[in-house]
Amino acid sequence: MSARIPRMRGGVFACVVPGVPVDCRSELWMDGALMSEGKFIVFEGIDGSGTTTQSRFAAEWLRSEGLDVVETFEPTDRAVGRLIRLALSRQLPGREGEEVEAELFALLFAADRLDHMKGVIVPALERGRWVVSDRCYLSSFAYQSVGCELDWVRALNRHVRRADLTVLLDLGAQTAYQRFSVERKDHDVFETVEKMAAIRASYLRVADILEREGEQIVRIDASQAIDVVAAEVRDALAGLL
Ligand code: TYD
Repeated sequence: MSARIPRMRGGVFACVVPGVPVDCRSELWMDGALMSEGKFIVFEGIDGSGTTTQSRFAAEWLRSEGLDVVETFEPTDRAVGRLIRLALSRQLPGREGEEVEAELFALLFAADRLDHMKGVIVPALERGRWVVSDRCYLSSFAYQSVGCELDWVRALNRHVRRADLTVLLDLGAQTAYQRFSVERKDHDVFETVEKMAAIRASYLRVADILEREGEQIVRIDASQAIDVVAAEVRDALAGLL
């Protein structure tokens, strides 16, 4: 019996064989290789740059294009991610009121990411689903390399799955600080204008390095209106469909 194999949106193949259900994506093999994994898209930027809002819009838009999308974020709400949130608000058990070391943050974020990759991201991609993550390894490279050596932070993260596309929402520290100060009185440890300016510079520097290594990173001016940013994000994502 011969199989007709049309390509579906997002690189997923459907197997059209009389008597065989159409949705058999995860079992489909061609020339000995699994035909298509989903795409991994990450939103990055300093606090207040809109990564949460824009990753939600992007996921909704990808769904409207017929894709099966998993939305996720870091720090996660899993075991290590919860510890990180406590550390960010100076509430890590046994270290209450203290700002923990940059190295400890780097290790915690790397551990959270490994668990996130194994438990959420990689299984979804392998099933042909698309994954949209609000932050991932570029956050560690940008934030943690302000206090630690970039090479060491990269080594901690060397087993992570690289993004198919990273959207870097670039915004000046002053504008970003004003944006989230309207909503919040208590600031996490990275949320001062000086630290944010250093982290922004770090993002731009690390993005240059990763681009030279072949990563696909699109930089978008996040000082524009939300819908203008969303439209630019959609244009970038359209290139992956
Ligand atoms: P954030 O996305 O702001 O989470 P939430 O919106 O729930 O507060 O992330 C929390 C902070 O953690 C933010 O300041 C960025 C920082 N961060 C790192 O320093 N390194 C990392 O690897 C990640 C993922 C986040």
